[in-house]
Amino acid sequence: MSHVVAISNQKGGVAKTTTTISLGACLAERGNRTLLIDFDPQSNLSLSLGHHDDSPGETISDALETSLNPRKMVWDELIRPTSMEKLEIIPSDPRLWTVERLISEKQGYEHELKHVLEHWQNNYDYILIDCSPSLGPLTVMALTASNRVIIPIQTEFLAAVGLVRLLETVDAVREHTNANLEFDLLAVMYDQRNSICRAVLTKLQENFSARLYSTVIGVDTRLKECVASGQPINQYDPRTRATQQYRKLAEELELKVKGIQEAE
Ligand SMILES: Nc1ncnc2c1ncn2[C@@H]1O[C@H](COP(=O)(O)OP(=O)(O)OP(=O)(O)O)[C@@H](O)[C@H]1O
Ligand SMILES: [Mg+2]
Repeated sequence: MSHVVAISNQKGGVAKTTTTISLGACLAERGNRTLLIDFDPQSNLSLSLGHHDDSPGETISDALETSLNPRKMVWDELIRPTSMEKLEIIPSDPRLWTVERLISEKQGYEHELKHVLEHWQNNYDYILIDCSPSLGPLTVMALTASNRVIIPIQTEFLAAVGLVRLLETVDAVREHTNANLEFDLLAVMYDQRNSICRAVLTKLQENFSARLYSTVIGVDTRLKECVASGQPINQYDPRTRATQQYRKLAEELELKVKGIQEAE
């Protein structure tokens, strides 16, 4: 069965999309069949992998809409290839704003993404969901559909502001719709020369110990460049520091997941 991972933080611009693509591509490189879901109406993940608004075909908005207006759907047509083998994507589009508003009026809407993902639960080793910067209904649906949530957190002063509210949302989801949801923190955009970065990382290590990945993602401008190329970082520049770090993260995640699966 697929291990489903949401990448979420209601704070904007903290590397959610970058982490979804880079981690997903490194998992695929290690032989895992990996599906990325763009669950943000901004569609940055789709755009970064070369899927534009005017690309033909249906999106995650259409998939969710079937719960409001039932109709026949060819589910596999939602899935598009990327430049990498074993890495596929379901794109999003701006209509997801409207679908979010309409679906949230439906009782039990929290489970709707989970129902959509059930179509492929044996086809992938990992399904990664790129969340929007909010704690609204889309995020609640993503957390309900997931085994774990990875929270990217910038190693900056004030970065942890908002974390309490996000963890309260995780607790609420555990209580109401997904009792087994795990959460992990990932330190990102770390600059070793900067004393504030070092101090924030130490605090995160003290406060979250086992929940914090030992892999830390540093600042690497190649991550900004690769977006324009439509390629994930490990394909765009296999030797750059961010590639090495996201590869380590993929390995760390795999070990965590295998540990849980063996214990079950
Ligand atoms: N480690 C890094 N080093 C340098 N730049 C980075 C790094 N990680 C991400 N970025 C850049 O930071 C910007 C924000 O990243 P990204 O779009 O992944 O954030 P996000 O959390 O998905 O944003 P949003 O909340 O809008 O969805 C992008 O320009 C991205 O290329
Ligand atoms: Mg994003």
